[in-house]
Amino acid sequence: MVACVNSVAFQGINVLDVDVQVQMSDGLPAFTIVGLPDKAVAESRERVRAALGALALALPPKRITVNLAPADLLKEGSHFDLPIGLGLLAAMGVLPADEVAEYTALGELALDGALAAVTGVLPAAVHAGAGRRGLICPAAQGAEAAWAGEIEILAAPDLLSIVNHFKGTQVLTPPQAKVASTDATYPDMRDIKGQETAKRALEIAAAGGHNLLMVGPPGAGKSMLAARLPGLMPPMDAREILEVSMIHSLAGQLSEGGLTRQRPFRDPHHSASVPAIVGGGARARPGEVSLAHLGVLFLDQLPEFQRAAVEALRQPLETGRATVARANAHVSYPARVPPLAHPQPVRAFRPPG
Ligand SMILES: Nc1ncnc2c1ncn2[C@@H]1O[C@H](COP(=O)(O)OP(=O)(O)O)[C@@H](O)[C@H]1O
Ligand SMILES: [Mg+2]
Repeated sequence: MVACVNSVAFQGINVLDVDVQVQMSDGLPAFTIVGLPDKAVAESRERVRAALGALALALPPKRITVNLAPADLLKEGSHFDLPIGLGLLAAMGVLPADEVAEYTALGELALDGALAAVTGVLPAAVHAGAGRRGLICPAAQGAEAAWAGEIEILAAPDLLSIVNHFKGTQVLTPPQAKVASTDATYPDMRDIKGQETAKRALEIAAAGGHNLLMVGPPGAGKSMLAARLPGLMPPMDAREILEVSMIHSLAGQLSEGGLTRQRPFRDPHHSASVPAIVGGGARARPGEVSLAHLGVLFLDQLPEFQRAAVEALRQPLETGRATVARANAHVSYPARVPPLAHPQPVRAFRPPG
């Protein structure tokens, strides 16, 4: 018998369906995971085995094959632990396979069966909702997932509570959508003494969505002025909050497990590498320019930045997207700094008369 559990893989902020298929057949006892797993996914074997042990369940002495379909898509990250664990439980007859198939699952298992937070829960929840499925995720991230709207969410602290929920002995309460802090707080312009011209320039940049280059001697208040720029911008609307939170969810940077109303302000150190600025690296994570999406990217000590890093910003600043090319895929993240995508073009000056 083959048990199937739905999970997801991420490509930029795009979410792709991954089918976790578990088969137990007769033969020499073995436990293999196929379907282009990376190291974290391959290691999930040991975590899942231990987590089942914590439920006092041993893997049957059979030939167990876990296939992550589609087989040609690279599977990265620890969030496949939970769907693999649920697939095994369904194949062993502990969980009803048809009911589990109505959910999309993601989460990392600890050796004692507890569910640890993973990146990308918010985009996964939105994706599950679009496919009319429920979501099973770690309890710590229920508040984040609840933003996806009218979908059934099982935010479970551990594997045991999921088993009990499906058995009906301990029902999990649906999580409430939560915003990290009710009001966004920013440093205030009134802290700045004098500097009227600089303040005016800051206001114009905020109103028109312009880039700003500040030149001046050390201690003139450049960093201080820059930190006050996000506070001058209009509050984010619901769509903007969701867009920003999606990226921060993928980077694992949502604070307090909720969404944030705060406009991003990112000030990477001048020693930052090209992948750190525009995105990339082993898992094609969003870079600083994407984390600053709809907010402010502040390059303090601009001349000290690596030339390559500054050059790499050219394309995101122009198009509003940061594209990361990898050997197997192109991943692109939104990166709109300054936030106004299409500021009104300045009318050509026409002399009166
Ligand atoms: N116009 C100002 N009003 C109030 N404090 C100021 C002003 N300019 C500078 N400061 C003080 O000087 C410190 C250094 O300013 P900073 O913004 O770091 O300068 P810069 O980035 O231009 O080197 C600030 O933290 C602030 O305490
Ligand atoms: Mg400074």
